[in-house]
Amino acid sequence: MQPWIIRDFHLDDLDQLIDVWQDSRTSGAHPVYTLAEIIDACTNGLAVVAVTEGTIIGAVACVLQDDRAWVLTLAQAKEWRERGLGSALLAHVEGKLASRGVRRISALVPASETRIRAFRNSDYRVEEDLHYFERTIPVHPKETRPLSQLGGRLLPHGLWEALAGMQYEKHLIEQRLILPLAHTELAKSLGVSPPRSVVLFGPPGTGKTTFAKSIASRLDWPFVEVFPSRLAAHPQGLAGALRQVFLDISQLEHAVVFIDEVEEIAATRTGEATSPLQGVTNELLKIIPAFREQEGRLLICATNFIRSLDNAFLRHGRFDYVIPIGPPDLIARIAIWNRYIPSAFAQHVDVDVLAKASDRFSPADIEFAARKASQKALESAVQSDQPTTMEMPLTTAAYLHAIEGTRATVTEAVEKDFLEDIDRIARV
Ligand SMILES: Nc1ncnc2c1ncn2[C@@H]1O[C@H](COP(=O)(O)OP(=O)(O)O)[C@@H](O)[C@H]1O
Ligand SMILES: [Mg+2]
Repeated sequence: MQPWIIRDFHLDDLDQLIDVWQDSRTSGAHPVYTLAEIIDACTNGLAVVAVTEGTIIGAVACVLQDDRAWVLTLAQAKEWRERGLGSALLAHVEGKLASRGVRRISALVPASETRIRAFRNSDYRVEEDLHYFERTIPVHPKETRPLSQLGGRLLPHGLWEALAGMQYEKHLIEQRLILPLAHTELAKSLGVSPPRSVVLFGPPGTGKTTFAKSIASRLDWPFVEVFPSRLAAHPQGLAGALRQVFLDISQLEHAVVFIDEVEEIAATRTGEATSPLQGVTNELLKIIPAFREQEGRLLICATNFIRSLDNAFLRHGRFDYVIPIGPPDLIARIAIWNRYIPSAFAQHVDVDVLAKASDRFSPADIEFAARKASQKALESAVQSDQPTTMEMPLTTAAYLHAIEGTRATVTEAVEKDFLEDIDRIARV
């Protein structure tokens, strides 16, 4: 006679079952299933308990999927180990599952788990060559609604790595933004307060929007772009709409919030309260301090015209950093050119020559020139009678021709202004 009886689980057993489950877990082992999942399996799946003198000493809980069952837990009170209880529980549950048409019973058990023996003794086969993969989707189900209302989304992985060149900017952003935000606890313990809001500035097309998105991708946080100009039609007016948007954002656990061309709403205030954007500037000035109080979010404002921003807007305490995003250096340009030259032609093109010839080009200018060369090559390939015997269409010369026909965004005057802005306004 066994000193226990095994019977079906009743809701009244839940408290005790949780105790046994806690008791039987190996500390430090990966918790494959959460308590919520165990409870769900008990109530909606199939669970049995072993009882002695009115006390639960062991339990099995399974979920059923057609003809397969997953054992979510095989729990035993510590003092009842090594006495055949685990095998008895498995045998009992197997009988019940078989009568429900289950053909396969699977279990995922941490390697350090002591009750592995119960599975082995019950003729469960260990599949040594399986790997367990797990990824936590960084958006909580309750955030899905506010996120979709805000037009926010998770961006693909790898955008940061795909950002070619820009070593100076990447290094700076990695150190100042990513590091403290990705390791908040460590940062705080060392007295670093994680940044909450930053401004990116620089000539058009140098990659401010790209950087903002890459930061979101790197942090694995949802990306929410706020378009002040699109809020104008809101019944509460622009300022009210902006307030509402930030209220919605505060419901998210994490977010990178992006406002592009922020000079449109935060340009120097004229003093006359006639501009409809005046109220928005004031609203934004009020919103930022509240935004900064919440953890797990970063506001990125981008502008091509930093010098036109309102002084109060850039004041210390509102933005942690004011970061210049400049045109790419030579090494960055080589990397960017390489991205756009089709691999079949790469060996016929001297990328160093192209990079030197495209001084002051922004990444966007390089993209434009490269596409122009590709487009021209396509046109001549289609026009040519014998496309297979035609000359190499994408050569250094072809690209140099495209460069000649492309105007660099960063003219000498633009560069001079930019350097001045860095001197006067940048804060890194
Ligand atoms: N470092 C980079 N490497 C490759 N392409 C880039 C890089 N930075 C920007 N681009 C490309 O240049 C274009 C303009 O960049 P964008 O981020 O919109 O510039 P900005 O916001 O500063 O005007 C985009 O098509 C983007 O993909
Ligand atoms: Mg942009």
